[in-house]
Amino acid sequence: MADDTDKKKQFGNRFLKNENDVFKHNAWDNVEWDETQENNALLQVCEHIKTKMPSEKAVDLENNADQYWDKFYTIHQEKFFKNRCWLFTEFPEITSLQNDKSNSILEVGCGVGNSVFPILSHSASNNIHIYCCDFSSNAINILKENSEYNEEHCTAFVCDITSDDWNSPFALESLDVILLVFVLSAIQPEKLKHVVRKFYEYLKPGGIILFRDYGRYDMAQLRFKEGRCISDNYYSRGDGTLVYFFTQDEVKQLFINSGFEEVQNLVDRRMQVNRGKQLKMYRVWIQCKYRKPTL
Ligand SMILES: C[S@@+](CC[C@H](N)C(=O)[O-])C[C@H]1O[C@@H](n2cnc3c(N)ncnc32)[C@H](O)[C@@H]1O
Repeated sequence: MADDTDKKKQFGNRFLKNENDVFKHNAWDNVEWDETQENNALLQVCEHIKTKMPSEKAVDLENNADQYWDKFYTIHQEKFFKNRCWLFTEFPEITSLQNDKSNSILEVGCGVGNSVFPILSHSASNNIHIYCCDFSSNAINILKENSEYNEEHCTAFVCDITSDDWNSPFALESLDVILLVFVLSAIQPEKLKHVVRKFYEYLKPGGIILFRDYGRYDMAQLRFKEGRCISDNYYSRGDGTLVYFFTQDEVKQLFINSGFEEVQNLVDRRMQVNRGKQLKMYRVWIQCKYRKPTL
């Protein structure tokens, strides 16, 4: 597992040493939380659980999750998420795939391609095929209509990864990399074990999972209003989409219990600053890498 030195190299290098400087930049890296901040966050989350959403409503949101994401993409099209420009710094494994043999990447929950297109433009001349799937058919249609979509190097398909049969265009044990960018947080927590077992089946021995997602007490969690909480650390947004906030240990257990080996498990705490409104916003992301053992 990476130590603190790795963490500093990894997530940027602007550290807040003097509190008086806080509004001089838009963001600060590797911000430490003191006990008071941690306790206040816990108190806020305890308040959320007191006003849980009625269970019938939660069941409807879970059973029709694909339709809520379809509506999301009908409204926002390709304009909501930004291209994931940090991808190659955080996940050099993508660029170091060898050129002399054919390699396959699968991005799960790819949305409209904010990771797929940067990877495609980076690897167009390489022997890499990018598979990508999402259970929102609207998202996949928008992705395929993008002028950069190139069937020679990319295959997009609709798939609910919580289902037993993925009907996938690739074989078992054929993938080098599975990329998970803010997608496992959108899955019902009870279904995650099953999903991770499917990842194991499709990865080659030695293949790797690259994961980045919401961490516990991220600003997005703390600002939930009453009536949005489904269960501990699991919420529905106003538009009906679902989101879970992970701890490092939960992600670790999820993958280790399915037979993976840990390569990295880091927390990225960043303070974003609204200089105009003099607001501090605390972001928490978890970044992990898990490898399927070679035989
Ligand atoms: C927060 S978005 C992230 C999209 C994309 N990875 C990105 O970073 O821009 C979560 C995505 O996961 C997809 N998703 C949620 N549950 C899914 C499931 N069970 N199977 C496949 N995709 C799913 C949603 O449709 C949505 O596109």
